[in-house]
Amino acid sequence: MSALEIRPAAEADLPFITDIYAHAVRHGTATFELIPPDLAEMTRRFRALIDGGFPYFVATLEGQVVGYAYAGAYRPRPAYRFTVENSVYLQPAIHRRGIGLQLMQRLIAECEARGFRQMIAVIGDSANAGSIGVHTKCGFQMIGTHPNVGFKFGRFLDLVFVQLLISGTPTEPRP
Ligand SMILES: CC(C)(COP(=O)(O)OP(=O)(O)OC[C@H]1O[C@@H](n2cnc3c(N)ncnc32)[C@H](O)[C@@H]1OP(=O)(O)O)[C@@H](O)C(=O)NCCC(=O)NCCS
Repeated sequence: MSALEIRPAAEADLPFITDIYAHAVRHGTATFELIPPDLAEMTRRFRALIDGGFPYFVATLEGQVVGYAYAGAYRPRPAYRFTVENSVYLQPAIHRRGIGLQLMQRLIAECEARGFRQMIAVIGDSANAGSIGVHTKCGFQMIGTHPNVGFKFGRFLDLVFVQLLISGTPTEPRP
C-alpha cells in the first residue's frame, strides 16, 4: 500500500472531511443525517470537539486525506465525562485495506491517554457490516439494537450500540 499516515486533523483538512462525510450522508446509512453539512458547519463541529479536549485524526495516502475519525462527548451532562462516542469515515474507494482499523487504534490510544474510559459507537443500520466489523475487531462489545428508529432511503433502520472499555477504572478525575 502507498504511504499511509495517521495524524491529528487540522482545519485545512476540513474540505476533504466535508466531502467524505457528504458522500456518506447522501449514499449511506451509517449516519442518519439527511442533508450533508457544509464546510462552515463541519468547521463549527471540528472546533467544538478540539476546544472540548477531544481527539480528531485523519488518514492520508500520499498526502491526500482519505478518512477521518474523532471522539466527542457521548452526552453533554457532566457525569458522562469519562465516556466518548466515536465516528470513523473513509472514502469508499479505499475500504477494507485496514485504514479504518488503524484510525480506530490511534483514536482509542489517544482517548486512553486523555483519560477517557468508555467508548461507544452508535452505528446506523444493522446491515453495516464494515462498521460493526471494524469495531468488533477493536474489541467493542455488542450492547444492543434499537430497532427501526431511523428512516432513510424509504425504509426504517436500526441503531446498533457497541462499547469498548478503554482501560482502567474511572476512579480519578481525568486530566
Ligand atoms: C467502517 C469503515 C470505517 C471501516 O474501515 P475499513 O478501512 O473499510 O475497514 P478495515 O479494512 O480496517 O477492516 C478492519 C476489520 O473490520 C472488519 N470489516 C471491515 N469491513 C468489513 C465488512 N465489509 N464486512 C465484514 N467485516 C468487515 C474485518 O474484521 C476487518 O479485518 P480484515 O479485513 O482483516 O478481515 C469503512 O467501511 C467506512 O468508512 N464505512 C462507511 C461509513 C461508516 O459506516 N462509518 C462508521 C460509522 S460509526
